[in-house]
Amino acid sequence: MDTPQDIVFQSYGRCCIRDQFFSDFYDCFMGKSDEIRQMFVDTDMPSQRHLLRNGIMQLILFSRGLPDSKLKALGESHSRHGYDIKPHLYNIWLEALLETLRQHDKQYSPQVESAWRHALTPGIDLIKSAY
Ligand code: HEM
Repeated sequence: MDTPQDIVFQSYGRCCIRDQFFSDFYDCFMGKSDEIRQMFVDTDMPSQRHLLRNGIMQLILFSRGLPDSKLKALGESHSRHGYDIKPHLYNIWLEALLETLRQHDKQYSPQVESAWRHALTPGIDLIKSAY
């Protein structure tokens, strides 16, 4: 039987093959508030999409037991000493990701959604807690 981690891995595999997934994610995320949109005004979005592709993979690998060093670095860069990402923004980030997954993953279901929530929460909490 597929574990929740397997479900997430396979779902990400179905979505991350298309760059459109990442541009739809940022459209959705930035559409959530001016505060979020403002943070990306000077960002090179093609390279940001590429970085996010890897960032999501790091969250997934952490849920599968890989070391947390990459996420610690993200925690540092997103902290008050870096981009100053307020902790409440991570809930919006996760909801935007789930919305985008629902659009792109043809096999999306409540089970897939719950697997994603469970897999990403520990890594997101780690990044948030470095604030
Ligand atoms: C940069 C991932 C949440 C805003 C980055 C980078 C990665 C990344 C990989 C590039 C590497 C770096 O600069 O350290 C993630 C992941 C998140 C997350 C995996 C969720 C757990 C957020 C949230 C915001 C945000 C909630 C709020 C708006 C930014 C900004 C940059 C950035 C402003 C820098 C963009 C630039 O270089 O101009 N993120 N991020 N991130 N992230 Fe995040």
